[in-house]
Amino acid sequence: MKILVTGAAGFIGYHMSQRLIEMGYHVVGIDNLNDYYDVRLKEARLAKLQQLEKFHFEKLDIVDSAKVAQLFASHQFDRVIHLAAQPGVRYSIENPMAYIDANIVGHINILEGCRHNKVGHLIYSSSSSVYGLNQKQPFSTEDSVDHPVSLYAATKKANELMSHSYSHLYQLPTTGLRFFTVYGPWGRPDMALFKFTKAMLAGEPIDVYNSGNMTRDFTYVDDIVGSVVRLVNVVPEADENWTVEKGETSSSSAPYKIYNVGNGQPTKLMAFIEAIEKSLNIKAKLNLMPMQDGDVLSTCADCQDLFETIGFSPNTEVEYGVKQFVDWYLSYYKN
Ligand SMILES: NC(=O)c1ccc[n+]([C@@H]2O[C@H](COP(=O)([O-])OP(=O)(O)OC[C@H]3O[C@@H](n4cnc5c(N)ncnc54)[C@H](O)[C@@H]3O)[C@@H](O)[C@H]2O)c1
Repeated sequence: MKILVTGAAGFIGYHMSQRLIEMGYHVVGIDNLNDYYDVRLKEARLAKLQQLEKFHFEKLDIVDSAKVAQLFASHQFDRVIHLAAQPGVRYSIENPMAYIDANIVGHINILEGCRHNKVGHLIYSSSSSVYGLNQKQPFSTEDSVDHPVSLYAATKKANELMSHSYSHLYQLPTTGLRFFTVYGPWGRPDMALFKFTKAMLAGEPIDVYNSGNMTRDFTYVDDIVGSVVRLVNVVPEADENWTVEKGETSSSSAPYKIYNVGNGQPTKLMAFIEAIEKSLNIKAKLNLMPMQDGDVLSTCADCQDLFETIGFSPNTEVEYGVKQFVDWYLSYYKN
C-alpha cells in the first residue's frame, strides 16, 4: 500500500511517516519546508526520514494545484494522510492569508487529487479549536461547532465542510481528526512546551497567558500517530439511514466521519509547567500575561467514539510525555 503524507517534515508528519514505514507501508512525503518556524528542524526531521528505504520525498507546495495534480497522477496512492497546514492560533490574527492559502486552497487541491485518482481513503487533520465558544465539556463530535474564535479554527471547520461535500458528491471516503494540543519529541518551536523549555534553560521568564488559569487536553504525539494508523483501514461508509434530523453531526449519508483525538484528561497549565520544571530540575520564572485573542480557556476531548471504533484512545500521562520531550530537546540542542 502506498500512502501520501502531506506535511511530512512537520512535527506530526515526521512521526506519522516513521510509524507507517515501520508498519511496512510505502510513504511518499511532501512538504514545502516553509519558514513559519526554524527550517533546520524541518530539514533534520526530513534527513532522518530519508534514511528509510520506503520513504520518498518531494518538495511541493500544496497551494500549487498543477503540481499537486501531477503528483497524484504520477503515483497511485491508496491512502492520503493530509497534515500540511498553516498551524497556530496566534499567528492567524496577524497573517490571515497564510491560512486561506495553505488550509483552504491547499485542502481543495488535495481533495481534487483524491477525487480524480480514486484514492480509497483521505484522513486529514482538523483541530480541537473548532469548538471555539463551546462551554460544555468534554467536547463531543456531536456538539455544534459553528462559533470559532480564530481564523485558524474557521479554516479547520471549513476543511470538514469541504470534505463532506466531496464525500457526498464523489463518494470519496474522508475522515477528519480533531487533534487536541499535540506535544512530544521533535515538537514545534511555536508551542508552549518548546518555548518554556528553551526559556527556562536560558534562565529567562516564560509568558504564561491568562495568569496560568487555563487547562489543555495535552495529547502525546505517539498516541496521535497510534490513533491514525488504526484508522487507515477504517474506511467510512455511507449510512443510508442517516438523516440530518436524527442529529448526528460526526457521520453522514455520505462516506464521511469526524473523530476527536485527545487524551480526555485536561491538565492545568501550571501543572504542565511543574512537569517541565521537574524534568529540567529548574524553577520557572513566570511572566503572568492576560488572555490572548483567539485562545480558549480549556479543552477536553470526548473520545468514546474513537475508542469504540479502534479499541484505543490517547492515554499517555503528561509527566511521561514532557520528560520524553525534554530528553529529546537536551540531546538535540546539546551543542
Ligand atoms: N500540533 C498540534 O497541537 C495540532 C493540534 C491540532 C491540529 N493540528 C494540525 O495537525 C497538522 C500537523 O501539525 P504539526 O503540529 O505537525 O505542524 P507543523 O507545522 O510542524 O507541520 C506542518 C507541515 O506542513 C508544511 N506545510 C505548510 N504549508 C504547506 C504548503 N502550502 N505546502 C506544503 N507543505 C506545507 C510545513 O512546512 C510543516 O512542515 C496541521 O494540520 C495542524 O493544523 C496540530
